[in-house]
Amino acid sequence: EQFTAVVPAAGVGSRMAADKPKQYLELAGYTVLESTLLRLISHNNINKIVLVISPEDDYLQELPISKASWLQVVMGGKERSDSVLNGLQACDDNWVLVHDAARPCVRHDDISALLALAGTGSGGILAKQATDTIKLAQKSNQNACKIVDRSISREHIWQALTPQLFPRKELIAALQWCVQKNIAVTDEASAIEQTGGTVQLVAGAHDNIKITHPGDLALAQFFLEQQQI
Ligand code: C5P
Repeated sequence: EQFTAVVPAAGVGSRMAADKPKQYLELAGYTVLESTLLRLISHNNINKIVLVISPEDDYLQELPISKASWLQVVMGGKERSDSVLNGLQACDDNWVLVHDAARPCVRHDDISALLALAGTGSGGILAKQATDTIKLAQKSNQNACKIVDRSISREHIWQALTPQLFPRKELIAALQWCVQKNIAVTDEASAIEQTGGTVQLVAGAHDNIKITHPGDLALAQFFLEQQQI
């Protein structure tokens, strides 16, 4: 079976403190975005990518990859969920993968493990079990000094990665419901949870990092050199 991946890349990446959006920073001779797209399209079961960019994006058109036959480019919206919805509307598949533009180190075996969920009744996500001890902060109005309320057993804490795989129509309905109710979600699974759907957890590799802070580029480069996908 062949799948389409929707890649939201319409964010500004303000935490990188760089002069351009983080997906256009250089990584191992390519941009972060190209590395991510090539990683996805080189998987045997992915044959199309819908890339969601900002209407103000001047960078994509400079890249040869923007003309690839397997790539469809659509415009993003205000929030990530708006961008993903625009991407999902441009597909006609039963199941769809959503993958962050900022995760170029995703491994092919992890993608395969996630795609295997399409044979089951419900979708799911790649995730990694927390390795740090997790503290819940007290609710307070002042940010200056946070105080611990309690620790949460990390045995049950998973950090959500991407790709995330869901039935396309279920995901569209869930994201639309969240937009309508003004519920902010930072990943697709959150929308499915909000609407009572099931999200399966698939343990993924710890090197599937999201490039967020300046040091992450060097780390991603190291992981890419080490990996044999
Ligand atoms: O901010 P964060 O790193 O969680 O963003 C995750 C992904 O969502 C990024 O690839 C970003 O480009 C994308 N995004 C988007 N449209 C927005 C906001 C974020 O496609 N309006």
